[in-house]
This record gives sequence, structure tokens and C-alpha cells, in this order.
Amino acid sequence: MKSVESIIINKNKRLRGVIYPPGDKSISHRAIIFGSLARGKSKVTNFCPGDDTLNTLKAFQSLGIKIEGSGTEFTIWGKGLKGLQEPPDIINAGNSGTTTRLLTGLLGGQNFFSVITGDASLRKRPMKRVTEPLRAMGAKIDGREGGDCAPLAIRGENLRSITYHTPVASAQIKSAILLAGLYADGITEVIEPVLSRDHTERMLKALGAHVETKNTMVRVQGFSELEAFSLFVPGDISAAAFFVVGGAIIPDSEVIIRDVGINPLRTGILDVLKNMGADIRLEEIKEEGGEERADIIVKSSLLKGVEVSGELIPRTIDELPILAIAASQAEGTTIIRDAKELRVKETDRIKAMAEGLRRFGVQVQEFEDGMAITGPQKLKGTRVSSYGDHRVAMAFIIAGLTASGETTVEDTALIATSFPNFMELLDSLSQ
Ligand code: S3P
Repeated sequence: MKSVESIIINKNKRLRGVIYPPGDKSISHRAIIFGSLARGKSKVTNFCPGDDTLNTLKAFQSLGIKIEGSGTEFTIWGKGLKGLQEPPDIINAGNSGTTTRLLTGLLGGQNFFSVITGDASLRKRPMKRVTEPLRAMGAKIDGREGGDCAPLAIRGENLRSITYHTPVASAQIKSAILLAGLYADGITEVIEPVLSRDHTERMLKALGAHVETKNTMVRVQGFSELEAFSLFVPGDISAAAFFVVGGAIIPDSEVIIRDVGINPLRTGILDVLKNMGADIRLEEIKEEGGEERADIIVKSSLLKGVEVSGELIPRTIDELPILAIAASQAEGTTIIRDAKELRVKETDRIKAMAEGLRRFGVQVQEFEDGMAITGPQKLKGTRVSSYGDHRVAMAFIIAGLTASGETTVEDTALIATSFPNFMELLDSLSQ
């Protein structure tokens, strides 16, 4: 089982052992961004070594920031809020929506010109959700489809602060506006319909910026200076999720996943699985840099179907593909609703999961904003596509472990965007 274009999986007896997932992807992006904007030397350890976060790192190098290191440890020589320079070439965000949207916000407030683009999937993803509010702040941004698609060309300006009600709960929209807000006169306020992950505001607060949060509102004061820092990035719960579900659904399994970030806005997957009857325990809870982490211990158990909707959706958004696999092994019907955002991720994850699960023999009903999955179903080995989406690929690989015969998951190279050693860790647990 190697991380090549197609991966072949055979039914597995059980998953047993201890693993450390990669550092959290969302926090790793932000560590590079804030380390670059702080004044002085910051150190980041347990950085996510995926292509997405490395694209953020390279972007800041091209903006004139010295960043040295390798693997999971980097030192950043931040130059303060006004220290970025015009990049000599187009910034390539690859597959990373977070890089594109957060940088668009930041670059909107710089007194230079920049262009940001990415791969074919990224160039299809909606950008108006950030370009529109940033234009309202005074940023000059153009792009394909009237500014809805990358490449985006950004001419930074002096920005005005705004109060913005985001139409969807999205940490990328919120963070783009807050980053622009650092360069706006006065106080910029973002109000979300439901709270999305809050790593940006937590980190800004920890670094001394003037930030206020209340319910689903966050405010930042323009030109708040940031302090340099030293940060151990907690393990990525979105990466751990594949092994939490694997451990829960493969009989006779016991998996210990160490040092996983348990920010309450990210632990929806644990809450949903526990509701389904999963045997999950947290131990060794610690805190650092405003974020908690813990060891997750999961043992296999019988699951039952549940409904996942409303406030749970932003808290499980990246885990819904692997949750769909758990649902196929649960007694009864699991209903996922209010998750239309899944249609504009790296691929249309509702379509990709529904099509793939049907190929495994599972009964799936697709809705515009979710799906209904009926289980428990003994999966039949098959050939499925990831549609070039890392999380869909990893979800189907876990499904393949429970399927009879052989499963081929096509188009898996992009697993490296978030979890380059996924197959290695899976091999180490497979018994
Ligand atoms: C992210 C926010 C989420 C999530 C993505 C990472 C972030 O996207 O799906 O993987 O780091 O801010 P949205 O803001 O589009 O929901």
C-alpha cells in the first residue's frame, strides 16, 4: 500500500497501535501568516508538512519573509505588519483554499500588486465570498468570472473597516476579513450565522492583538501589533478522524492517537461518533498557545445512525466524508443536512461520497444539502475515484479496509496536500 496515483486495499483484520497525526493544517497556515506579520523570530514545531501549508510557507517567502527549516520545524523572521514586499511572480496556492482566501484578505491591505492562483480544483472554487467584502473595505481585486474565481489580481489599498455578516459559517471568509481588518482604520467586525473554527481569533489574541469575541461575533482593531512566538502545533483532528472512524468500525480494533487538537469547534466528529455509540476516550489533556490537545483512544463498537445538522455542520465540515463511511456501518439511517458547503470543497463531496458509497453497495439518498445513508451494509470491494480530493480518497481507503475482496481508490496523489504519511500510519496500525 503506497501513496501512488491508485491505491489498492484489501480487507483488514483490525487496527491496533499508537500514532501521532500531522500537525493541524488550519493552525499551521496561521502560524506562518502570523509569524510573518509579527516582529521578530518565531518558531513553529509539529508544523503540518502537507503541500497546502507548504504553499502558504512559500507564498510568504515570495513576499520577502525569511523562513528556514524543514519537515515539521520552521523559524520565521517576521517583519511586522508593514514588512511584506511585492512578490516577483504569481503566488501559487496549489489545491489550498485556505491559502488563497486568507492571503487575498491580507494582500488586499498591502501597498503593492499581487496575483494568486492554484490548481484546476482551486480555480473552480467560489472566491466572491471573500472578494466582495474585501472590495467593500476598499481593496481592488479582480479575477475570472468578475472576481469569483482565481487567478485573482490584487492591488492593495488603504482599507476601511466594516461590519460584515457572513452568508455562510466559514473560517476562511472570517479570517480573510480579519486579516484585512489588521490594515483597516478602526474596528472590523465579522458576524457569522453559526460559529466556524476560531483559530485566527485565538491566535491573534494570544499574540497581543486587540480582538474581542462574543457569541458569533469577532472584532479586530486595525494596526494591532503582533508578538513573535514559539508554537507546538497540536495534531490535526481532521487527519486523526480517519483513524478514529477506522478504529470504531473495524472489529477488534484499538487505536491511540496522541496529541490531537481538541478545540471545541473542531471536535464535532467525536460528539457525533459518541452519539452513534462509539467507544472514544480523551486522556492527557494539555493546553498551549490558547489551544487544547489530548490523546484520543478509540475501540471498535456497534454504531447506530444519527442526524447531523445545524450547528454541528461547521464543527464537522471536513470530517463529513469519513463520517459517511461510519454511517454505512451503523444500524439505521444517518441523515446529514445543512451541509451544502460540501459541494464547494476540493470537489463536490456530497456527489463524490454518494457515488462512491453506492459502488460499495450502500444505499444513499442525495439531497442538495446533504445525504441519507442506510446501514449497516457489508461493503463489497470495488473501484472508486477520489475526484482528486484528499479527504474523499482517505475516506474510501478506510472503507476499503472493511470491504470484501479488493478495493481500488483512484487519484490519490493529493492525499499529500494534508496528510503525506497517511498510508505509512495506516500500515503501522494494520494487523
Ligand atoms: C479552514 C476552514 C474550512 C475548512 C478548511 C480549512 C480554515 O473551510 O473546510 O479545510 O483553515 O480556515 P471554510 O471556511 O470554507 O468552511
